[in-house]
Amino acid sequence: MKVTVVGAGNVGSTCANVLAHNEVANEIVLLDIKEGVAEGKALDMWETSPVNLYDSRITGSTNDYSKTAGSEVVVITSGIPRKPGMSRDDLIATNAGIVKSVTENVIKHSPDAKIIIVSNPLDVMCYTAYLSAKVDKSRVMGMAGVLDTARYRSFLALELNVSPKDIQALLMGGHGDTMVPLPRYTTVGGIPVTELIDADKLDAIIERTKFGGGEIVKLLGTSAWYAPGAAAAQMVEAIVKDQKRVFPVCSWLEGEFNQEGIYLGVPVILGKNGIEKILEVHLNEDEQALLNESANAVRKVMGVLDGMEIL
Ligand code: NAI
Ligand code: 2OP
Repeated sequence: MKVTVVGAGNVGSTCANVLAHNEVANEIVLLDIKEGVAEGKALDMWETSPVNLYDSRITGSTNDYSKTAGSEVVVITSGIPRKPGMSRDDLIATNAGIVKSVTENVIKHSPDAKIIIVSNPLDVMCYTAYLSAKVDKSRVMGMAGVLDTARYRSFLALELNVSPKDIQALLMGGHGDTMVPLPRYTTVGGIPVTELIDADKLDAIIERTKFGGGEIVKLLGTSAWYAPGAAAAQMVEAIVKDQKRVFPVCSWLEGEFNQEGIYLGVPVILGKNGIEKILEVHLNEDEQALLNESANAVRKVMGVLDGMEIL
């Protein structure tokens, strides 16, 4: 079982390291366009195997896609990250060209692969990959919701002084400032979160979650990688092990949640076939309005991409 991670930068190498450490696949290929970087990082990781006690073989490749042939899952992290003052949307021109060419190469060598996009702007890069891959929508998806809910859950755990393991939550919409955390679908050990926290504190956590990516960019001068890398690896594991996990995943919608022809984060069942089912949970009027607003923000960026005539 082979898994490829394209882009051996911060997120890609972290993702590959988690995959190897957790023995999610017996063969992990890390690929990057920069000469020697993927090989060097893969070798460094492999040298941890006797210490961390795993035997997943991890190898690197400089842009040689024949090494990725027959991958079950491919994670695409290639592209530029944000610098302070930039929004995810500022990355579109550079990253769309990269995601298009990478996706075409990936599908050529792994025609049955499930593709998980990480590159930003996430929802629109999923759209780019979907148009470039020309495969079923169940096989092209994006990682954002697992990360964004992890941030939301981690902030709640701090505020409530409970284990993050006991916090379950749903968050929908685009991977941007209009994302929609859903308190009505947030529980702590089965208890609705609203029973345990004041409304103003919960509102503050929701706002912090929406700008969670920017908080890290301000601190580090580039975007996050530990949580994004781990989140992408968790999605890979769900597919490779056919776990049927329920995660918010950026998915192509054809009428679900009153949205058509757009990639947005929605709850799905993730298994060996990729997105096996979109779970159309009920949204009340306010929640649907927030989702519509988020979809409109994603559509604006889709329009910018369409205008570029890259695809
Ligand atoms: P990075 O700069 O550390 O790594 C990107 C890597 O992609 C570099 O090593 C670069 O050489 C490589 N690359 C560029 N063009 C390539 C090509 N054509 N083929 C193969 N490799 C190529 O960036 P980082 O921090 O790893 O972020 C990667 C992307 O992920 C960014 O677009 C960032 O905004 C996005 N991101 C998305 C998140 C999400 O939740 N979806 C979370 C964090 C980052
Ligand atoms: C993040 O949310 C920038 O998308 C990246 O950390």
